[in-house]
Amino acid sequence: MTTTTLLHLDSSADLPGESVSRDLTARFAHAWRARHGASGYRYRDLAADQVPLLGPAYAPLGRRVERRGVLSPAEVSALAEGPDERREWALTQPLIAELLAADTVLLGVPMYNFTVPAALKAWIDRVSFPGAYTDPATGRSLLDGTRVVVVTACGGGYGPGTPREAFDFQTPYLRAYFTNLGVPDSALHFVHAELTRADDIPALAGLQPLAAASLAAARSAVADLAASLTG
Ligand SMILES: Cc1cc2nc3c(=O)[nH]c(=O)nc-3n(C[C@H](O)[C@H](O)[C@H](O)COP(=O)(O)O)c2cc1C
Repeated sequence: MTTTTLLHLDSSADLPGESVSRDLTARFAHAWRARHGASGYRYRDLAADQVPLLGPAYAPLGRRVERRGVLSPAEVSALAEGPDERREWALTQPLIAELLAADTVLLGVPMYNFTVPAALKAWIDRVSFPGAYTDPATGRSLLDGTRVVVVTACGGGYGPGTPREAFDFQTPYLRAYFTNLGVPDSALHFVHAELTRADDIPALAGLQPLAAASLAAARSAVADLAASLTG
């Protein structure tokens, strides 16, 4: 048994039995645990257990750190001034450590108003602390060996050539975010389930076959990814 670690984050505000992204990430996680065991599996429900929005002491601490360069977590702790900055760092550092410890990060991401849910954005803002993913000795990204699997679900369709292609601020944003942190583009995997509302919205009823095909392809893609990603 390997000691590989999977960090599984869901961000749908919908019920577990209804959410398409939760269903798909659960399938990936189930297959991953069957292969690697449960000891390296970490789960965080960002909708049910929300990461607090940044408080006014977060940015001053970040600026103080940036002026000094890349610091270790212990050095950041030592720089934190007063109870508010210490609280911000106490809320932040465990989430950074959890991300750094993961070999694979699995994200369930519904599209809300053309982009990611606020619950996920709260996590992103908090974990993106200055210098947290840079090796102080080499300058290289500490996430250059991390794999990220993003499972998106959207009610409409935003594929190439569709009328709303330019409205997708979810996938381009997440690609920019993770590659900017140093995750190689080749280690970033996207699975999309689209037209998830076709069964509910009368105007989309004609697209039900496409929706069913999209869901089937997404289920197959998460199973293939869980089987093919090693380590
Ligand atoms: C608050 C909210 C905003 C939404 N905004 C969009 C949107 O901008 N575009 C879209 O295609 N679908 C939108 N939807 C539909 C969801 O993307 C769709 O229901 C998706 O399946 C949600 O993921 P989930 O099933 O994992 O919860 C929205 C749904 C909610 C609840």
